[in-house]
Amino acid sequence: MNVFLSSLLLILSLNGFVQAADSPVGDPAAGQGKTAVCGACHGPDGNSLVPNFPKLAGQGERYLLKQLHDIKDGKRVVLEMTGQLNPLTDQDLADIAAYYAGQKGSVGAADPTLVIGGEALFRGGKLDQGMPACTGCHSPSGTGLAAAGFPRLGGQHANYIKKQLTAFREGERTNDGDTQVMRTIAAKLSNRDIEALAAFIQGLQ
Ligand code: HEC
Ligand code: HEC
Repeated sequence: MNVFLSSLLLILSLNGFVQAADSPVGDPAAGQGKTAVCGACHGPDGNSLVPNFPKLAGQGERYLLKQLHDIKDGKRVVLEMTGQLNPLTDQDLADIAAYYAGQKGSVGAADPTLVIGGEALFRGGKLDQGMPACTGCHSPSGTGLAAAGFPRLGGQHANYIKKQLTAFREGERTNDGDTQVMRTIAAKLSNRDIEALAAFIQGLQ
């Protein structure tokens, strides 16, 4: 692992220990009962069938909880969810994150015309431009690193992945922290790169 990656991992994990200290512990059984309204878009068990609505099933608990707080606080803008999280307490959000993290995520099919280019970028990065491989943080199988808050990508809808990578690149999604890890990475990606990565990720398990 290079110096850039290891120092980043350290910063991200230290950051996490501070946050974890006073957070409520999530109860998955209680969480299930709080997701009725969410299921309309994300699927009853978190396996959404709509390509623009992200799958939540099997996503890391810590990542989910961070997104829920960021969406509630408006640090990440999700128009479709406007107001939906307002009535929920910190305990509710922790319960919901625990519930989805415990569900089994489904995997889609990769577009065969794009998958080879996508896999090369995912596993190899663009070393000539200083862009690290995605595997360093999201793992070779795309399961991520739940304890560090690095999200699972494998099996996620290509449309959703494409939208996120474009949003990071255009500076429209800015909740990737002070180190701007995903904004810096996405800045090196062309539209074609993003298409290929998204196609590969949809079929990855
Ligand atoms: C009307 C549809 C809709 C409803 C209802 C909805 N969401 Fe979402 N949600 C979305 C969309 C669309 C996104 C992704 C937005 C984007 O492209 O950035 C999203 C994103 C998320 C994310 C971030 C996923 C990730 O991988 O980063 C989480 C977590 C989430 N929703 C949880 C919930 C929960 C919990 C509820 C119920 C309290 C809920 N959503 C209700 C549409 C919805
Ligand atoms: C140095 C670590 C690191 C590397 C390398 C990295 N990522 Fe990430 N990625 C993250 C972190 C951390 C987040 C979560 C940001 C947040 O908390 O909102 C993330 C978020 C994402 C998301 C949003 C997931 C979601 O559910 O909304 C996508 C898509 C993504 N990364 C794709 C990639 C791709 C593709 C590559 C390789 C080109 C890559 N990442 C390389 C750390 C990394």
